Amino acid sequence: MPYLTIALTKGRLAYKTLDLFEKVGITCKEARDKSSRKLIFTNEELGLRFFLAKANDVPTYVEYGAADIGISGKDTIMEEDRKLYEVMDLGFGRCRMCVCGPESAGEYLRHHELIRVATKYPNIAKDYFYNKKHQTVEIIKLNGSIELAPLVGLSEVIVDIVETGSTLRENGLMVLEEICPLSARVIVNQVSMKRENKRITRLVRDLKEVLTEEQS
Ligand code: PRP
Repeated sequence: MPYLTIALTKGRLAYKTLDLFEKVGITCKEARDKSSRKLIFTNEELGLRFFLAKANDVPTYVEYGAADIGISGKDTIMEEDRKLYEVMDLGFGRCRMCVCGPESAGEYLRHHELIRVATKYPNIAKDYFYNKKHQTVEIIKLNGSIELAPLVGLSEVIVDIVETGSTLRENGLMVLEEICPLSARVIVNQVSMKRENKRITRLVRDLKEVLTEEQS
């Protein structure tokens, strides 16, 4: 039986995913070892292989079939816009994609002004401003600490993830518009979905069962 390969997002999301997998009897102790630099782990008994990848790369591995399954944030799935199936909401890693800025920037949004938008998510920002709001803006791609941009005058607003809201609060910024809710999702390669349908369907069903039990 060939391995079923699962791509995990390095970091907090990987640990939460491994917690959930343990509840359906899938263990991978090695992957939890924080001191290890190993990237691929196998569970011979179950015919499973896990690997850890950077968040933005998980949908790429899944689209090309290097991973049959991936666990990825909805933000990354939207931004990457890859050909794959999104089959399940895992319910953790909940946060929101928002347009944020100082209170005063609300006026620019209301009047559809030509403003600068800094973001790690240029595709999401473009889709929101151009296709949903029909507002022409200049999008500036950044790689992190996005909240800095309006503070130092790089942009009027940002498009970014808001979880607790403390980064915004501590920097005198606020949510001006909400784009969409986010959480961790299970994604599946389109060919694997046919070829490995039984195993994938069973895994998704087991995960759904555990989540439903936890909610009730
Ligand atoms: C994310 C996001 C915000 C922050 C939101 O950044 O970009 O900056 O978390 O969380 P909060 O609402 O709970 O304050 P992350 O820590 O991933 O790092 P980054 O700035 O490098 O993107």
